[in-house]
Amino acid sequence: MIKGEKLYEGKAKIVYETDNESLVVQEFKNEATAFDGKKKGIITGKGSANTQISAVLFSLLEASGIPTHFKELLSENEMLILKLQMIPLEVVVRNIAAGSLSKRIGYKEGVSLKNPIVEFYYKDDKLGDPLLTRAHIDELEILKSGQYEELRIMALKVNEVLKKYFGDRDLDLVDFKLEFGLKGNQIIVGDEISPDTCRLWDRGTKEKLDKDRFRRDLGNIEGAYREVLRRVKE
Ligand code: TMP
Ligand code: ASP
Repeated sequence: MIKGEKLYEGKAKIVYETDNESLVVQEFKNEATAFDGKKKGIITGKGSANTQISAVLFSLLEASGIPTHFKELLSENEMLILKLQMIPLEVVVRNIAAGSLSKRIGYKEGVSLKNPIVEFYYKDDKLGDPLLTRAHIDELEILKSGQYEELRIMALKVNEVLKKYFGDRDLDLVDFKLEFGLKGNQIIVGDEISPDTCRLWDRGTKEKLDKDRFRRDLGNIEGAYREVLRRVKE
């Protein structure tokens, strides 16, 4: 496998083409941003921690019958993935109130939700990734018939698998964000699953072990990523 030209650079990752047109390399960076890129920083070791955490979690989903773009680890901070046609949505699943949900509906952080909530955000930096209703998604023609329900069901299934896996490791999965892509008509989980894209709280102490330590200047950010990696690999 030959790593070729850079295809795309995002805030936390770079995608390179390969000599196989259906595969690309996803490289994870130590750079961190928050609040639509207004806050910037470097988290030492984040790239490799997120690569390894994502690899374990994608493999777990595959073993649970949920298709992902993950093929293999290439190095400490690179993985080989399927090239997908990405769907411009961020699908957020929430089990416990935190972040923007607490602001939106007035629940204190830490309140357990009666049922998981699935939300769809429009992946568009210019608009600030707004929350979309089903009607907005239909108007924008982002999804084909049946795909909205399929995404919701897949996101809830991912939630069940991850909640159990993290729970067995004394971590509460508060909420997380998924991105999906298409290979033909098949919907596949893409992007990453890491402390950048999940809220994870220690079950006993409720200590935050995720990117909120960076967003909210809570300190010991590197330690939190290392701790999640350690537990995920257990
Ligand atoms: P929120 O409470 O800020 O809406 O975030 C919900 C979840 O989505 C949380 O686990 C963090 C994750 N997330 C991302 O992965 N990328 C983003 O750009 C945002 C805003 C949130
Ligand atoms: N990744 C997003 C950004 O830079 C936000 C976040 O994760 O909070 O803007």
